[in-house]
Amino acid sequence: MKRRRQIYEGKAKVLFEGPEPGTVIQYFKDDATAFNNKKKGVITGKGVLNNRISEYLMTRLGEVGVPTHFIRRLNMREQLVREVEIVPIEVVVRNVAAGSLSKRFGIPEGTPLPRAVIEYYYKNDELDDPMCSEEHITAFGWATVGEIDEIVSLTIRVNDFLCGLFLGIGIRLVDFKLEFGRLYHDNGDIQLVLADEISPDNCRLWDIATNEKMDKDRFRRDMGKVEEAYQEVARRLGILPESGPADARSTDTIQ
Ligand SMILES: Nc1ncnc2c1ncn2[C@@H]1O[C@H](COP(=O)(O)OP(=O)(O)OP(=O)(O)O)[C@@H](O)[C@H]1O
Ligand SMILES: [Mg+2]
Repeated sequence: MKRRRQIYEGKAKVLFEGPEPGTVIQYFKDDATAFNNKKKGVITGKGVLNNRISEYLMTRLGEVGVPTHFIRRLNMREQLVREVEIVPIEVVVRNVAAGSLSKRFGIPEGTPLPRAVIEYYYKNDELDDPMCSEEHITAFGWATVGEIDEIVSLTIRVNDFLCGLFLGIGIRLVDFKLEFGRLYHDNGDIQLVLADEISPDNCRLWDIATNEKMDKDRFRRDMGKVEEAYQEVARRLGILPESGPADARSTDTIQ
């Protein structure tokens, strides 16, 4: 079998060249990092669960008309996606105060925000992903004014949809991070689509009844039961790998 060419290895995923031009394969690792790589670890089975969870959420979003990079899941740890030119901005949406927002502004974690707050961070590990404004994004040419408008309207739709979806399974969507990319069509059109992943690695998910954390904060804050939390999210979404947790531990990839 032809060896696939690796395009990029990130902290949570590896990107390989896809079978057709314009496609890439995302391989989901169990590696976990926090605080911009200062804390490192492994969450057994995370890659399998995030592959499924992101597949599920991207598919549901696609059904309600949000364009995404997702094509199909290939196996336990891999999915086929459209190759895009990533807009170098992390778009963070917050419904409830937590994490760096609480720290920066002194608002206690768990305080509901009167309206969803959108923040932007410039994707640059060397600079620790600094927060930036729309002015920076346009001034430095990271995206156009039109692209920002599109990103904001897509982000609000994603937030509304995901808040409802998680509410239905007893989970509060506290905040999350999105990445967008430019899809270059053959006819010259450029389309902005949702890219990367949506998973407990980049969402804060709290149980509605108990406020228990069901996301990467359990790893960041050494709270334990990290795998169990990711599994519980998948279970509530109705997508726990068929044979249960043992299946999620498999590291095999089936080509
Ligand atoms: N459809 C896509 N086409 C091209 N690149 C993508 C696509 N979806 C996601 N990416 C990029 O692939 C990488 C995924 O790897 P990973 O999430 O492990 O990166 P990371 O360590 O978080 O690093 P980064 O700081 O670059 O995001 C990210 O850089 C992400 O922006
Ligand atoms: Mg990433």
